[in-house]
Amino acid sequence: MYPLKIIGLGPGHRDYILPIAKKEIEAAEVILCGVRHTESFDPTGKEILYIGKGTSLKDLLEEVAGIYKTRKTALVVSGDCGFYSLLSYAKKVIPIKDIVCIPGISSLQYFFAKLNLTWNDAELVSLHGREIDLLPALIDNKKLGFLTDKSHNTAFIARIMDAAGIQNSSIYVGEELSYANEKITKLTVKEALDFKEEGLSVVVIVNE
Ligand SMILES: C[S@@+](CC[C@H](N)C(=O)[O-])C[C@H]1O[C@@H](n2cnc3c(N)ncnc32)[C@H](O)[C@@H]1O
Repeated sequence: MYPLKIIGLGPGHRDYILPIAKKEIEAAEVILCGVRHTESFDPTGKEILYIGKGTSLKDLLEEVAGIYKTRKTALVVSGDCGFYSLLSYAKKVIPIKDIVCIPGISSLQYFFAKLNLTWNDAELVSLHGREIDLLPALIDNKKLGFLTDKSHNTAFIARIMDAAGIQNSSIYVGEELSYANEKITKLTVKEALDFKEEGLSVVVIVNE
């Protein structure tokens, strides 16, 4: 009987995938992952179940629940499996004793390193598909890292800061991190009000 491997892929570029994650992905016969993820490994000869191509996540995980014991199956997630990934959702369907997690480099961990900043002293927040009141965190912390999505983006964060009169902050946006088209931009709060991301992004704020 096999466990279900939940594998952190890192920010995307193959150089940032841990060797053990590469080995486990290579060994897998069935992989559940996002469409973008198959750019980071060779899917040849594997059955790939794509997230976001029509079939609901619930149905995909139920399919996985039916096969993982008899076929080597992996759920590949971006970044680290323990940081706002599908691990929590998978645990609702698959017993925890049957799950083996392989860590990866989180997008925010990668971005703090690119900025030569520590992240042990940062408040980490996910706005990915979440409605939360950001203001207390923005007031209480000197350094913050955000996962974003299309509407909860850099301009969204800047609007909250601007309305609260928080102006002496540097806003760093990391887009398509680790990929060839990686883009890093430093903005003031006023400049960030009109900023438009072109791809996947995370945001780091340093309050002076
Ligand atoms: C569902 S969360 C997954 C976070 C992931 N577990 C991690 O540790 O980075 C998806 C969000 O991660 C961020 N993200 C993941 N990969 C990225 C990349 N290569 N560049 C910029 N942001 C990225 C984006 O904010 C995206 O909306």
